[in-house]
Amino acid sequence: MSQEILFTPFQAGAVELSNRMVMAPLTRGRANQDGTPHPRMVEYYRQRATAGLIISEATAISPQGYGWANAPGIYTQAHVEGWKQVTEAVHQAGGKIFLQLWHMGRASHPDFQNGALPVSASAIAANGDAHTPSGKKPYVTPRALETSEIPGVIQDYVRATRLAREAGFDGVEIHAANGYLIDQFLRDGSNQRTDDYGGSIANRSRFLLEVTAAVVGAWSGEHVGVRLSPTNPYNDMRDSDPTATFTHAAKTLNRFKLAYLHVLEAVPGHMLAAPGPRVSPHMRKAFKGPFITNGGYDAAAAAHSINEGETDMIAFGVPFIANPDLVHRYRTGAALNPPDMSTFYGGTEKGYTDYPVLQPVNA
Ligand SMILES: Cc1cc2nc3c(=O)[nH]c(=O)nc-3n(C[C@H](O)[C@H](O)[C@H](O)COP(=O)(O)O)c2cc1C
Repeated sequence: MSQEILFTPFQAGAVELSNRMVMAPLTRGRANQDGTPHPRMVEYYRQRATAGLIISEATAISPQGYGWANAPGIYTQAHVEGWKQVTEAVHQAGGKIFLQLWHMGRASHPDFQNGALPVSASAIAANGDAHTPSGKKPYVTPRALETSEIPGVIQDYVRATRLAREAGFDGVEIHAANGYLIDQFLRDGSNQRTDDYGGSIANRSRFLLEVTAAVVGAWSGEHVGVRLSPTNPYNDMRDSDPTATFTHAAKTLNRFKLAYLHVLEAVPGHMLAAPGPRVSPHMRKAFKGPFITNGGYDAAAAAHSINEGETDMIAFGVPFIANPDLVHRYRTGAALNPPDMSTFYGGTEKGYTDYPVLQPVNA
C-alpha cells in the first residue's frame, strides 16, 4: 500500500501540519541545571523541524513537578527566554512545536525538593529509579496531595501554559501518560484516594479534566493536546480496567475541542506492547477529534494505520533521535541511522546534534 498519506498535510486544531509525522516528546537531559534550555537544544530542534509537528521533551511546570537531572522547565522568565530561541529556530525552518507540560509527581525525588517528599495521588511508592544529578536513586514513598492543594497545582499548569505561549510555542501538550502525576491519579494502582479524586473512574479522571479545563481556559482547545498511555507499565503503573478508564477519559475530553489526543500504545508484536487487549482502538472511537498514535511504528506500519482509519497522525520517538531528516528518509526509502542508547539521556552534542543527515533542514 502507498505510504504517500504520511506526507499529506493535516489540520490539528489551530495548527496546520505539513505532514502527518509527529516527533514524539523525548527527554534528553541537556538543559542547564536550573532548567533553562541550553543553546544546543536550539540546534537539536531546528534539525528536526521538517516533522509535521514537534512535541518538546517533557518540561517541568513547577519546582514541585521537577525531577529529572537537566530536564527543562517552564516556570521562570529565564526558561521563557531560552525556549524563545528554540521556537524561533523551528519556525524559521518551517516547523511547528508544542511544549509538553510535565509534573512528575511521585517520580520526582527529595534531592529535587529541598529534602521534602514528592507528591502524588496517594502515598504509594513506585518501583524504579529517579534520575537525580548524582545518579539513579530509588523512588521514595510520596506524600498524598491534600484535596485543598489541588487547585494550586492546577494553577501551576495555567502559569506554565501562559509562559509557553509567551515563549512562542504553537500549543501545549498535557503529559497525562507514563506514570507521572496525572496518570498517577488516573490509574487505580497509584490512586487509593477517598475524596472526589479517587475511587470511581469519573473521580480518578477529575484531576485530568480539571487540568485540561484550566489549560484550555488559559489558551484555547485548538492549541492544546493531551497524551495518555493506557497500557504502559513504565514507572510501575497498572490499572484494573484500562479499557474502561481510558475510554471514559477519551470520551470526556471531547468537550474541550482539543487540537488532538495522543495515545502511546505500542503496535502489536512490538517489544513495548503490553499483554492483553489493545485500548487505543476504543479511545479512537470515543474521541471525536484529531488522533495521534505512537509506539514502535515504522513508515509502513504508520501509513497502513492511517489508511485504515485507525489514526490521523503518527508520532515517532527513537527514529527521530537518530534521524533528524526522518521525513526525507521515509519519503525516499533511505536507510536509517541506528540510535545510540548510551547517549539518550544527558551529555553534550554527542548522540544529540551529530547524527548524520542526508538532507539538512531548509535545504
Ligand atoms: C530517550 C527517551 C525519552 C523519552 N521522553 C519522553 C518524554 O519526555 N515524554 C513522553 O511523553 N514520552 C517520552 N518518551 C516516550 C516516547 O515519546 C515514545 O512514546 C517512545 O519512544 C515510543 O515511540 P517510538 O517507538 O517511536 O520510539 C521517551 C522515550 C525515549 C526513548
